[in-house]
Amino acid sequence: MAIQHPGGTPAAPLLEVDGVTLAFGGVKALTGVSFDVQPGSITAVIGPNGAGKTSLFNTISGFYRPTGGSIRFKGEDITRIPAPQRARMGLGRSFQNIALFRGMTVLDNIKLGRHAHLKANVFDALFYLGRARREEAELRRDIEERIIDFLEIDHIRHAPVSALSYGLQKRVEMARALAMQPEILMLDEPVAGMNREETEDMARFILDVRAEWGVTVLMVEHDMGMVMDLSDHVVVLNFGQVIAQGTPAVVQADPEVNRAYLGSGDVGDLRRKLQAGATSAQGAA
Ligand SMILES: Nc1ncnc2c1ncn2[C@@H]1O[C@H](COP(=O)(O)OP(=O)(O)OP(=O)(O)O)[C@@H](O)[C@H]1O
Ligand SMILES: [Mg+2]
Repeated sequence: MAIQHPGGTPAAPLLEVDGVTLAFGGVKALTGVSFDVQPGSITAVIGPNGAGKTSLFNTISGFYRPTGGSIRFKGEDITRIPAPQRARMGLGRSFQNIALFRGMTVLDNIKLGRHAHLKANVFDALFYLGRARREEAELRRDIEERIIDFLEIDHIRHAPVSALSYGLQKRVEMARALAMQPEILMLDEPVAGMNREETEDMARFILDVRAEWGVTVLMVEHDMGMVMDLSDHVVVLNFGQVIAQGTPAVVQADPEVNRAYLGSGDVGDLRRKLQAGATSAQGAA
């Protein structure tokens, strides 16, 4: 559903995924996937294991080239634009399996996020000396400090990533993605493997990222309680196709969504989570 400006005109989508198809050899990972991400929204992609969620993220961020369809970001067709350039345009992401440099400190990992904004070539760099560069360095430090403060990781800034709990590593990964100053933050299973407390912390950070930093969030997540509590829009994938999308309440009531999870074998658990999520979402409203 389009977010309405006060004047009543619907806002243009920040991201438009239009008929995206992706095949690995004979395996079709995605078939005609279409959905929009509205600016300022939290949009979740859910679906059983192997549904194509990570493949979709890889296609949006430019690691995979779709075999059909198109992706538009801020109105511009980015389907053929390489991944690093998409990151510079404001598509920031984290990975399903932590992709931090384990031997490096938290701070150094966060600093890596800035590489998305480094000048593209040496010629540019030669003209980029002196005052402007100093100012940029200060600005960068300021941003990094704000992120460290915001994610409450000051106490571990000099710790090697390998020494941290899984939950903290996921938080550092989010910090690095934020250091790219994204307009859309893409999170692939931000709370997977976390305990209840870590999950609640992460949920709070995701809400705060939007509220305080104005960042739009697109996430893949299996934790249904969290999805239903946080999301404005939910896209359900099954076997590479969108089988339902809408508000959490609409998706939760969709018979095909329930059937898809039936097929995955753990419907009892999922249904309980969907129910619990919907109840707490209503409670919060
Ligand atoms: N690089 C690849 N090469 C070949 N097949 C792949 C590749 N990446 C994904 N696939 C296949 O594409 C399909 C979708 O996988 P994907 O990882 O996108 O699912 P997912 O929804 O993220 O699952 P999960 O919930 O387990 O993370 C699967 O059949 C998978 O085996
Ligand atoms: Mg995945």
